Amino acid sequence: MVRLAIDLQETAQWGAKFLYLITIITLFLGIYLHPGYIVLFVIFGILSGFNFYLKNIQTKHALLRNFGILATVRYFMESIGPEMRQYFYLSDTEERPFNRTERADVYRKSKNIDSTESFGTQLDIDKGATMLRHSMFPLSKKDVEEFSLTFGDERKLKSQFTINKAIMISAMSFGSLGANAVMALSLGAHKAGIPINTGEGGLSTYHLSGGADVIYQMGTAKFGCRNNDGTLNEEKFQKIAQTHQVKMVEIKFSQGAKPGKGGLLPKEKITEEIAKIRHVGMDKDVVSPSRHMECDNPKNTVKFIKKIQDLSELPVGIKFCLGDIKEFSVLIKEMKKQKVFPDYIAVDGAEGATGAAPKSFMDNVGVPLFASLKQVCNVLEKEKVRNKLKVVASGKLINPGKQIAALATGADAIYTARGFLLSLGCIQALQCNKGTCPAGITTHDPVLQRGLDVEAKSERVYNYVKNSNYEFKELLSALGVKNASKLGIQHLYHS
Ligand SMILES: Cc1cc2nc3c(=O)[nH]c(=O)nc-3n(C[C@H](O)[C@H](O)[C@H](O)COP(=O)(O)O)c2cc1C
Repeated sequence: MVRLAIDLQETAQWGAKFLYLITIITLFLGIYLHPGYIVLFVIFGILSGFNFYLKNIQTKHALLRNFGILATVRYFMESIGPEMRQYFYLSDTEERPFNRTERADVYRKSKNIDSTESFGTQLDIDKGATMLRHSMFPLSKKDVEEFSLTFGDERKLKSQFTINKAIMISAMSFGSLGANAVMALSLGAHKAGIPINTGEGGLSTYHLSGGADVIYQMGTAKFGCRNNDGTLNEEKFQKIAQTHQVKMVEIKFSQGAKPGKGGLLPKEKITEEIAKIRHVGMDKDVVSPSRHMECDNPKNTVKFIKKIQDLSELPVGIKFCLGDIKEFSVLIKEMKKQKVFPDYIAVDGAEGATGAAPKSFMDNVGVPLFASLKQVCNVLEKEKVRNKLKVVASGKLINPGKQIAALATGADAIYTARGFLLSLGCIQALQCNKGTCPAGITTHDPVLQRGLDVEAKSERVYNYVKNSNYEFKELLSALGVKNASKLGIQHLYHS
């Protein structure tokens, strides 16, 4: 390595001398031989000046100070590295978070084209995989019952909400997604008969535009129903809850990609439209605290859930990523004490995504989905309250095989966010935090959003749900399970 650095430095030094020499030579040739050489003189002059600046004036980058222009080649190669790896070097099963085979499966379902593959699995299924145990006596597909799950039946609510597909569109706010993406999801969800979750950025007209049922998410900043000091504005909240399309409310405690962390919306990013939807001013940064200010202990948390249930008269769920299981157990005991239960618990695995989060939160905080599901369901069983609420699971559950594995582990229904982003044409460019999404999804740039045709992409969303549901039922028939509610741990094999 040291030898290489010295070689490169020598090359850089000789290169710089060569550049300066050529500049002088072209100047003389321009004066004495032909004026056309002045063009070359200008080009080499600029390069020489730039090289001089990098090596002698700028102080931020050591590599540029040592190697001048030569080092810019390295920066360029590094910047195109992800694309080079994605297109040329990584195998079909290597990419993260979703490999090419997983993404291709969603693309094919969304485009309504043949989703079969040949020559056997590409996965090492004998090394740490979760497999579904099929039956020696599979059912005929027509004997498998349609999926059906009702939220709010435990409390005998007037406004119960029933879903007829196992998957729902998980929370993603207008703000993290552009308007076209939200409209395509809303329209696609309406066609497919599934609900769309608003995410924590408030209820926008885009969420309502396609006519789908909506789950309103109340994040810790209570966007859309907050007072200026960040407390709950009951009147604004009730207005949202009474919106015809809003069928459920979800109180977000945390999410898998950044559990325990709030968020910051810098004032530079607050457009007039976002300010109006979120009920915030445009003159200062908006901070999402790391928890609801009302929820400072288990007792007050349960009281807050009850308050939201009473104000909305809708099924109310809570969403979190599991941390300390003892805390969860204490919370459930408090629910028993107060005789108040949320209508569902959405368990988000640590492998979940977000628009933007610090790397250490994404990589190092929270319990992954399948371990969370087991622990959460164990507590619910132990406390004999499993029948008081539903459990919804999320965390890379983009295909029916994994969705059924999550249901067999204890969930009642599935949320997916990235499954639906892929159905919209997401190419996993990993730029959600930059506003430069090439597929026009996680961006507000009108030029990039232009590529996302709302009507065409809503058809993809619809196809993804339709074909996933078909495969879901095929898998149930292979497992000999008539109804998804009968799935259990006996249907899983861990290698
Ligand atoms: C662009 C984007 C924005 C998100 N915004 C929210 C949000 O506002 N609230 C929330 O609870 N989760 C949010 N999430 C997390 C998802 O709802 C979901 O819980 C997580 O990504 C796991 O599902 P998945 O693996 O199917 O993507 C967001 C995810 C993405 C990709």
